[in-house]
This record gives sequence, C-alpha cells and structure tokens, in this order.
Amino acid sequence: SEAEQNKLKQEAANQAAKQLVSGMTLGVGTGSTVKYFIDALTRRRDEDGLSLAAIVTTSNRSKEALQAKGFKVSGLSDVELLDLTVDGADRVDRHLDGIKGGGGALTMEKNVATYSRHCTWIVDESKVVDHLSGFPLPVEVLRNTCEHLYRKFADENLEPEFRKDADGRRFMTHYGNYIIDLHVDPIPVPAGLALWLDTTVGVVEHGLFLNVADKVIIAHEDGHIETRT
Ligand code: A5P
Repeated sequence: SEAEQNKLKQEAANQAAKQLVSGMTLGVGTGSTVKYFIDALTRRRDEDGLSLAAIVTTSNRSKEALQAKGFKVSGLSDVELLDLTVDGADRVDRHLDGIKGGGGALTMEKNVATYSRHCTWIVDESKVVDHLSGFPLPVEVLRNTCEHLYRKFADENLEPEFRKDADGRRFMTHYGNYIIDLHVDPIPVPAGLALWLDTTVGVVEHGLFLNVADKVIIAHEDGHIETRT
C-alpha cells in the first residue's frame, strides 16, 4: 500500500540523515523520499544541534521546503565542492547506476551530484532492479531542436514520447526545455546510450546517472535497511 511504501521511504531517509555531521556542505535532491529526508534533517538540527555549512538543492520545490523549515539555501556556484548529496532515484541497478528525472529535475540533479564528493540515494525496494528497466528514460531537449531529436530517437527505435503536463501541454523544465521520455526497456547498454546522448547536439541532459551514487540506502518491505556501496 502507499502508506507502507511511505514508511519505507521514511526509514531510508532517516538512515541517510544519520551520516550528517556539523560543518558539512550538503546537496538535497527532489521527490517524495527526499521530503522525508528534509524532515529528518530538520529533526537533527532541532534535537542534535546539527549545523551544516551550506545547503544546495536540485529544485525550487526542495528549496522552498527547506526555507519553510528555516534553512538558508545557497546556489551550487556559491559552494566549492559539496561534501554529500542525498537524493532519491527512479530506478537503481546492481552497479549503483540509476535512472532519474521522473520529476523533471534531472539537469540540476546531475549537476549537484557531480559537484559533490559523495552521493547517497535513498529508495524503497520497488526501485531496485538487476538491469535498468521499468521506467522511461527522460531526456531534456532544447525546444528549438526538439522535433529533429524526436525523429532521431524514433529512427533509433528508442520509442520517444514528449512528456505532457496535467493540462496536456508539453511539460517544460525549470530551464524552459522539453522532456522526451524514451521507452527503451530494459536499457541494453546504459553506458553506450549515455555516451550517445551526451554527444547528441540539442540534448541538454539525460536521466542515466552512471557512476554517480557511491551509496544506496534501500528500505526493504520486510523492514530491514540495506546499505550498498
Ligand atoms: C526527480 O527528477 C527524480 O529523479 C526523483 O529523484 C525521483 O523521481 C524520486 O522521487 P520519489 O522519491 O518521489 O520516488
């Protein structure tokens, strides 16, 4: 049930909050699991006196949630290298590679994670797979180029689909770009597809996060919390 799944998300988030120490610079991701992490972070400040040197977020949503709790939020360029970023993920495989971008914040998520020494993902068991699969791969594209890219993806049998918002219009990212979701399932060679997308003009960013996370905290349905490194 959703209530049970929320409990798992909360447990993974609480576990991640245990690794925080005062003086750290922290990246905070986006999503329903991260919401619980923000709660845990707030408790650690209020109950343990945890005092972070700086916090950077991957979205306005998380920024506003933190500011509502009284945290100051910095920009990524205002901080040298973050010590740790904690984020959710849409899928994670046995190599700790993942798919992200279900919420559309993939570009900032990849930037914040890249400019962090360490990156922890917090997930419930349902996100864990052997091979990256079961979730469309988001690709953020320039609006001016998007029709060319759509055809290119279709020619490569990547089953492209423009993401729509609730009104049925094309979903627009924070940066004013579109998202094309690729329905390639499973992704046979993630590193090959990532390289191809990285070198395709007009692609702003994509949701393949390879060699980004160095720790994944998984809350299992049977109640145990697993940490993979
Ligand atoms: C946002 O773009 C995503 O990458 C999120 O990190 C992901 O969707 C996880 O969100 P939930 O914790 O809500 O599943």
